[in-house]
Amino acid sequence: MAGFNTQLVHGKEIKDNNTGAVNIPVYNSSTYQYPKVGENVRWDYARSGNPTREFLEKQIAQLEHGACGFAFASGMAAIHAAFAIFRPGDHILIGDQLYGGTYRLLNQYFKLQGIAFTTVDTRNLEKVEAAIQNNTKAIYFEPVTNPLLQVTSVREIATIAKRHNLLTIVDNTFLTPYLQRPLELGADLVVHSATKYLSGHSDVIAGLVVAKTAALGQKIYFVQNALGGVLSPESANLVRRGIQTLGVRMEREQQNVAALIEFLQQRPEVVQLNYPGIAGTKDHAIAARECRGYGGVFSFVLDANTDATTFVNNLHLLKLAVSLGAVESLVELPYEMSHAELPPQERIQAGITPQLIRCAIGIEDCEDLIADIRAALAVARKKTAASV
Ligand SMILES: Cc1ncc(COP(=O)(O)O)c(C=O)c1O
Repeated sequence: MAGFNTQLVHGKEIKDNNTGAVNIPVYNSSTYQYPKVGENVRWDYARSGNPTREFLEKQIAQLEHGACGFAFASGMAAIHAAFAIFRPGDHILIGDQLYGGTYRLLNQYFKLQGIAFTTVDTRNLEKVEAAIQNNTKAIYFEPVTNPLLQVTSVREIATIAKRHNLLTIVDNTFLTPYLQRPLELGADLVVHSATKYLSGHSDVIAGLVVAKTAALGQKIYFVQNALGGVLSPESANLVRRGIQTLGVRMEREQQNVAALIEFLQQRPEVVQLNYPGIAGTKDHAIAARECRGYGGVFSFVLDANTDATTFVNNLHLLKLAVSLGAVESLVELPYEMSHAELPPQERIQAGITPQLIRCAIGIEDCEDLIADIRAALAVARKKTAASV
């Protein structure tokens, strides 16, 4: 089999036209001609299937080592499809540090459809096992959480799930198949916000689901076709193109993160650094066993003498924005931005304090990123000192 980077660039070749084009065309056709009434056609209507979308679907299935892939109009639509295969009366265990939008979908939508959820710290295997009920059908989690970068073992959760005949569903947005392949570690379904690393340029909203087996894939396909939240051909093409450079972007982003971590470890203003690549923690030990690298996102806590808001407001190269996984570096204050919907008490309890900063690092020159952070720290420090 071709190497992973070769697979990223080429996908599964389909010879569908005679132009010699090296890329799959963007097929902007909503419908397809039948040669004759009653004749079987590969394509009939673009909600049910589109060649550009199918290229991407096969590409992600190949990279995740699954049986089939499905492309949706957003990460949330993909996650919706994964949960839509369950029935009223089912119970699902969910990680306690899920992306906020997922938490909202489960609690404010799927609960009303009769599906029950129990939130559990998936790093605590005894608690996971104890939370399983007679009607439990699945365990859903993010192996690396946001914004604290806590790591759950996919292999250990999948082992518990198998013992109890449950599905393991993993949101692999942060790591991507370049760094971790959950299906190989025992998971059954993988979901992605392809908006992030897979597309990689902050220019498309997209979601993907990969099923380990064709039987599970059929259930996802039913939801995709019946509900219709499909990815457009243009967006499918952008994700396809982004995937081609996933490996080089990830390598570069991780190099930048390593340099930034080294810099921040020397800074007196930084009292805590969260990144699975830092040795000596349980998170690191799990990630070192199950991942090829530690990703492009990290977070850190500033001391009480450094104003976190002033710091982020004075960063110029790192753009103040939610989202992650693109070529440009982004920074955000989870307490004020991505996690502002949680009540203050819950935010603090979860470790999302006003001094916590999250960075998603891009492919710029790391000297420039360091200079930007150094300058903003100086302003944040000075202002606080002046106001005391
Ligand atoms: C881990 C994770 N999963 C899912 C989503 C939702 O994806 P989308 O914004 O593409 O709908 C996000 C978005 O930030 C995310 O970070």
